[in-house]
Amino acid sequence: MADTASNKTVTIKNEGAVRYLTLNRPDKLNAMNRVLSDELSAALSAADKDPDVAVMVITGEGRAFCAGADLSGSGESPPSREIADEVSHSITFYQQMVTLNTPMIAAVHGYALGGGCNLAISCDMVVAADNAVFGYPEVKLGMPAAGVSPPLVHQIGRKAAFELLVLCENINAEKALEFGMINRIVAPDQLMSTATGIAEQLAGYDHDALWLTKQLIRRCADMPLPSALELGRDIALAAGMYK
Ligand code: COA
Repeated sequence: MADTASNKTVTIKNEGAVRYLTLNRPDKLNAMNRVLSDELSAALSAADKDPDVAVMVITGEGRAFCAGADLSGSGESPPSREIADEVSHSITFYQQMVTLNTPMIAAVHGYALGGGCNLAISCDMVVAADNAVFGYPEVKLGMPAAGVSPPLVHQIGRKAAFELLVLCENINAEKALEFGMINRIVAPDQLMSTATGIAEQLAGYDHDALWLTKQLIRRCADMPLPSALELGRDIALAAGMYK
């Protein structure tokens, strides 16, 4: 792969117009500590601003996609202000995810738990290996599922989200497909080639058409249909389609 840059917890690689972001704490199953989430946030933002990047692929090094928030600490309960700060930080991260215009494909293998599951489903497409495990253990751990509930409810509806967030049982890739959390299930050795194939297909299209369509999909999901159709017209006008 050309143009490789690596830092501590997120590996960044370019291949043509596809940017690969790989969570890189394999010894901790890519659990998301503050360093990783800040580096990922910066990498997402940089990719989104780079006109040479058409599509992003997000994956995890080692045997998991991401085991969620980093739970390691002193073992003592952190002060509530610290918890509030962490939750607020993760919500800011997901707010950033939903405003990105570059299509994102998650390539998920092994565990995708809590914030890791949220990271996957916040991407536009999810390709999962058949060994992927999805789940939200927060409530079971005595924490409100604060940052992760809104995106999940938004995507899969109240009933299925309640089951995942409150029953706290992990699900396999087939169940995740049934819930509408993922798009494809493949053998583990086909994971990256499948995600790459999709990314290259998208990158082969006109980039403005791709980005504007992602923007429209993202924005119209929150709108009544008449307003969404108006937005579609505005985007077509802005793209000069009616000239
Ligand atoms: N935070 C910090 N470290 C984590 C972690 C997390 N969320 N998840 C895994 N790790 C670390 C483990 O502590 C272990 O580190 P060590 O080798 O230094 O002891 C390493 O990753 C491997 O994990 P391990 O538990 O040995 O692997 P496993 O295959 O037996 O179990 C899990 C995998 C995912 C079931 C288990 O690690 C787990 O339950 N993790 C916590 C998941 C979670 O609750 N996430 C938070 C959501 S809010």
